[in-house]
Amino acid sequence: MGERWGPDRSIRDVWTGAMLSNLRSTLAEHQFPGACGRCLHDIEAGVAPLAAVYDREPGIIAWPTSLELELSNLCNFECVMCNGDLSSKIRRNREHRPPLEVPYDDSFVEQLVELIPTLQQVRFSGGEPLLHPILYKVCDRIIELRPDLRIDVSTNGSILNEKVRRLIERATIQINISFESLRADRYEAIRVGSDHQRLLENIETFRELVRPNGGLVTINTNPMRETWSEMADMVRFCDERDLHLSFNTVIQPAELSLRTLSGAELEAIHGLLAAEDLGAAASPAARWNHVQYDNFVGQVAAWAVEAGGQLVAVRRGPA
Ligand SMILES: C[S@@+](CC[C@H](N)C(=O)[O-])C[C@H]1O[C@@H](n2cnc3c(N)ncnc32)[C@H](O)[C@@H]1O
Ligand code: SF4
Repeated sequence: MGERWGPDRSIRDVWTGAMLSNLRSTLAEHQFPGACGRCLHDIEAGVAPLAAVYDREPGIIAWPTSLELELSNLCNFECVMCNGDLSSKIRRNREHRPPLEVPYDDSFVEQLVELIPTLQQVRFSGGEPLLHPILYKVCDRIIELRPDLRIDVSTNGSILNEKVRRLIERATIQINISFESLRADRYEAIRVGSDHQRLLENIETFRELVRPNGGLVTINTNPMRETWSEMADMVRFCDERDLHLSFNTVIQPAELSLRTLSGAELEAIHGLLAAEDLGAAASPAARWNHVQYDNFVGQVAAWAVEAGGQLVAVRRGPA
């Protein structure tokens, strides 16, 4: 976006360039330009904004402390809610667009080296990052320079080959696995190219593999029109396995999103979600999961009100 990395523009050039300087000073004045307006909207609606994840950040220093890398759209799935900028298969098969040009090469990896010492967080997403050769190159440099740094990977959970195993053996990895349905037919219809049984097996294998190095497996889920009714079961699934669960907010495609439903529909969904009894939260992971669920239910309530619904407060069961 904006000032892109390339042969003529290094990471340092982008970081110190006009676009990011302007963005920083605008945000410091409590203005939210462009896409940042979404966080402002959430704050005003009383919903935790995406930016809240950075509230845990320590003081701001001159060089990045957090690195989120989406270096390729190469992906083996064609999920119905995703698009061709994030999945090479969707781009080719659904959108019939030419392949996305991926500029990141070994010189990018070498430029990253000067960022690694001050990093407190590094996260890979995609595409399917475990398919990207560059992920393993960057991880090699991190393991060499900062063996203490945890590496977070957002994955569809389908890639568990020797390369992945070797990486997990050598580093502390947090594997964030995305899925949104416990029903095989529904899951495989949403995540085109997937295998539900394989996913469940891989979740267990990933947990065993990351444990010796203090790594973690967490789950990311997508509440949509087709899946909202399973969200309490997703919490129960994660509670039982001591997995932390996070909810993505699906806005696009609009026809899959909850946000674009009518006030009456959202009101009804909110009532059912709020009436779910998740039982007592018996572990830190479960406590986290129940808070995330409540935030999700709060988001649905905010959308219902926005769409003109008349919310009737429904009490949840005891936490
Ligand atoms: C684009 S994926 C890339 C990583 C990996 N392929 C995966 O599926 O986890 C990153 C995250 O975005 C989520 N996601 C996909 N489509 C989305 C949408 N339309 N709105 C919000 N999140 C979405 C995925 O479920 C995943 O948790
Ligand atoms: S696996 Fe991830 S990147 Fe691939 S299509 Fe699905 S959501 Fe998109």
